[in-house]
Amino acid sequence: MNFQINPSKVSDSTITVPGDKSVSHRALMLGGIATGKTNIKGFLAGKDCLSTMTSMKSLGIKIEILDETEMSIHGVGLNGLSAPKTDLDLGNSGTAMRLMAGLLAGQEFSSNLIGDASLSGRPMGRIIKPLSQMGAIISSDENETPPLQISGSSKLKAIHYDLPIASAQVKSSILLAGLYADGTTSLIEPAITRDHTERMLISMGANVTKIGNKISIEGKPKIFGRNVNVPADLSSASFVILAALISENADILIKNVGINPTRTGVLEILKSMGADITLEKKLLISGEPVADIRVRSSKLKGSAIDPKLVSLAIDEFPVLFVAAAASIGKTTFSGIGELRVKESDRITAMSKGLQNMGIKVDEYADGAVIYGGEFSGGLVQSFGDHRIAMSLAIAGTIANDQIIVKDIESVDTSFPGFCECMANIGANIRTIEAE
Ligand code: S3P
Repeated sequence: MNFQINPSKVSDSTITVPGDKSVSHRALMLGGIATGKTNIKGFLAGKDCLSTMTSMKSLGIKIEILDETEMSIHGVGLNGLSAPKTDLDLGNSGTAMRLMAGLLAGQEFSSNLIGDASLSGRPMGRIIKPLSQMGAIISSDENETPPLQISGSSKLKAIHYDLPIASAQVKSSILLAGLYADGTTSLIEPAITRDHTERMLISMGANVTKIGNKISIEGKPKIFGRNVNVPADLSSASFVILAALISENADILIKNVGINPTRTGVLEILKSMGADITLEKKLLISGEPVADIRVRSSKLKGSAIDPKLVSLAIDEFPVLFVAAAASIGKTTFSGIGELRVKESDRITAMSKGLQNMGIKVDEYADGAVIYGGEFSGGLVQSFGDHRIAMSLAIAGTIANDQIIVKDIESVDTSFPGFCECMANIGANIRTIEAE
């Protein structure tokens, strides 16, 4: 399937976007190993989270589905998971695989974790190293890529680990294994990353502490199920924000979006480029800050993006690349090498896509310089990456001519209903059969 995008103007509207992917994964996993019931509302019914759901069911967890976005997880307690009878297929999801590996490191049984072609090429050495130090035995393909065979251990050791890279997935994997270790597991992150795991663990009763960049968790706690109201995903809202910013005279309100400060780098960066974005009705829901985001079309100016904000905006660089291309002047991105090991090599994928649309981009090993300009029509590749497909589709709304974005099936991993949502704000993005 492809996207066909025709130049279109975003109209004033109030909309919602689907639930947060990171929080949905964690609610399933932690709800499964908590004692008692966890009711989830606002769950993201995207393919990534559904892979986690299927895997939790294979581990013996009963999940009552009330509707697509609402369910009850019958938690079995820390030691209640049962050996899976089949491979656990985590599809396209790095989060699912890395967090699940942490969870499975502390089990007495073995499990085999597999994924699609993209996930099968992603680096797992970053979790194999700390989890092995804790006592799990993990084998992978050469190059430390999936599939992963995990021989868990009921005698995990608590460790201290200095994370070599800023990664919430690695941090969370260690914290989940730390639940099963004797004693206190601690880690230091080189930069702050999303803290949904810590927040949810604390709310379920685990003893997690944070001093500066050091996070510690006490092993073998009692954790209890609870209600989780998943906020709308700021990463999905970012596509709407971008569409409104680069359109003319638009004023959009996006309801109930998660604004956890470990995620809001995208808002700070866009504001530093001149974006008119305000937060209304701020609330704390299920331990996560939430707000309505108002965004108005703005004249964006290129700038040098602060590398300190990279880990707080890690999934939004495809969006920010398009914002940069729609700005006046040049924008410099640095310290973004991690983008090369996401669902695709996002520096190359976005550089190629924008260049095909007539934008000048200089690509570097861990950065890029983007020169603002006019977008022309044409054919661009998504590289099978949901965020590349959606970002280039939004770019298409201000192009001089029609844009086709190829291979957009992956959009369902994180943003089911993307085209309908875009139609609601007036963006002309349609799904068409590939020829
Ligand atoms: C995620 C962490 C990020 C992000 C991913 C979701 C998570 O990955 O890119 O989409 O839910 O923990 P890293 O922490 O590995 O950068």
